[in-house]
Amino acid sequence: MSDPGAREGGDLTLQGLVHDLNNVFETISEAAELLAGDDRWREVAEALARSVDCGRRIVGVYADQSRAGTDLGEIVDRAETFLRDFLRHLAGTKIRVHRHIDRDHRLPGNGSDWERVFMNLLLNAAQAMKDRGGGTIEVNSRIEDGSLVVEVADDGPGIDEAILPRIFTARFSTRSRHAGLGLHIVRTLVEGNGATASAANRPAGAGAVFTIRAPLPEE
Ligand SMILES: Nc1ncnc2c1ncn2[C@@H]1O[C@H](COP(=O)(O)OP(=O)(O)OP(=O)(O)O)[C@@H](O)[C@H]1O
Ligand SMILES: [Mg+2]
Repeated sequence: MSDPGAREGGDLTLQGLVHDLNNVFETISEAAELLAGDDRWREVAEALARSVDCGRRIVGVYADQSRAGTDLGEIVDRAETFLRDFLRHLAGTKIRVHRHIDRDHRLPGNGSDWERVFMNLLLNAAQAMKDRGGGTIEVNSRIEDGSLVVEVADDGPGIDEAILPRIFTARFSTRSRHAGLGLHIVRTLVEGNGATASAANRPAGAGAVFTIRAPLPEE
């Protein structure tokens, strides 16, 4: 079997992947445009188009690498839009997202990485609360000791203290048919952007809280 990594020009593998994914996105976009022409499928078509936009940002086509960082509110908006599309298929789960984010709070580094981080955290929170029919996710940010601190808290069952030290490990999952990769991706991306991620339970079994601490982006 040939090893794709052995091809001349090491990052051809990555370029090839981005190229092939863009073709996949193109196909889905075209199908979505066709669907949008029929009123019955318009909402589905819009959800598909948003997912494609999200995918394109993730492969870096629109990656925001600016040193000034990325607006936290915008990132949470995009993650919440993704969550809403996902929830269409979890009938009966009602999720509210409350946020207390200052308008000038910014995250350092790559915007598409942060979008994935918050998508994974919101998705996990919604999945944790689905057996209760839903609940509230709080996204709060504050500046503390020269860092931006962002908390994502839910009012689901919380995380068993016995597994708390393992949840960021790749392939650790308590959910059937899940890969156990979401939080591993969160930690890898967060650390890749110079920040830290940790998990805890809210007092009195009131749910889980994930905390991100990021250095403030350069002015
Ligand atoms: N908000 C939460 N509330 C309670 N438990 C959580 C929460 N988020 C994560 N967990 C626990 O941490 C485990 C690991 O989460 P992670 O996102 O890495 O994997 P997963 O959600 O099980 O699978 P995948 O993300 O690959 O679909 C989950 O299986 C669950 O037990
Ligand atoms: Mg997950």
